[in-house]
Amino acid sequence: MDVMELLRGRRTYRRFLQKAVPEEVIQDIIEAARLSSAGSNRQATSLVIVHQPADVEKVNALVKWAAFLPPEQGTPKPGEQPTLYVAVVQDTRVSGDLNTDTGIALANMTLAAWAKGVGSCIMGAINRPKLTALLGLPEHEKLHTMVAFGYPAHKSYIVPLQTDNKYYLDAEGNYCVPKRSKEQIARYL
Ligand SMILES: Cc1cc2nc3c(=O)[nH]c(=O)nc-3n(C[C@H](O)[C@H](O)[C@H](O)COP(=O)(O)O)c2cc1C
Repeated sequence: MDVMELLRGRRTYRRFLQKAVPEEVIQDIIEAARLSSAGSNRQATSLVIVHQPADVEKVNALVKWAAFLPPEQGTPKPGEQPTLYVAVVQDTRVSGDLNTDTGIALANMTLAAWAKGVGSCIMGAINRPKLTALLGLPEHEKLHTMVAFGYPAHKSYIVPLQTDNKYYLDAEGNYCVPKRSKEQIARYL
């Protein structure tokens, strides 16, 4: 698929089919993070793959979905939950702008997954103390984000941003994501 087409479809998905993400796609996600650019090539981002159903279940209880929607609309119900989480971790012993590096890794990982039809939700509203303990992270590792993955059970599409940046559901329960126009975000000097 054309990369611009991939970028349009690589939205946030929050309800998933109960079908495991194949190991081949997990390997692509890891490879996409490995290949990411980093300032000074510092490579301080690493991943913890949470793929066993019992562990995925434990993570489900420690993340928050869709702040702009009431829980009955935005939180996946049993039978709609992700089938894979990837914890994105930073080595705090390394100095520099780790958040920019990690953001690039997140973009690459979610795009690589989407290229294989696997949707994702990057999650910052997470219970870090409990997840840090669950994942067994050592002192020097900081949990940046969890990324939920799975085959989407809904559509998600871009709509023009009018006044409000809040995403919403259409009558079929698909996500509508308002984005600014190209003219609004870029100007030529
Ligand atoms: C850093 C970051 C943290 C996010 N945290 C959450 C979260 O905790 N829960 C959630 O449901 N969505 C979360 N999202 C998803 C955003 O709400 C979503 O990216 C935004 O609404 C735009 O939708 P789009 O990804 O389809 O463009 C997060 C996204 C990013 C980039």
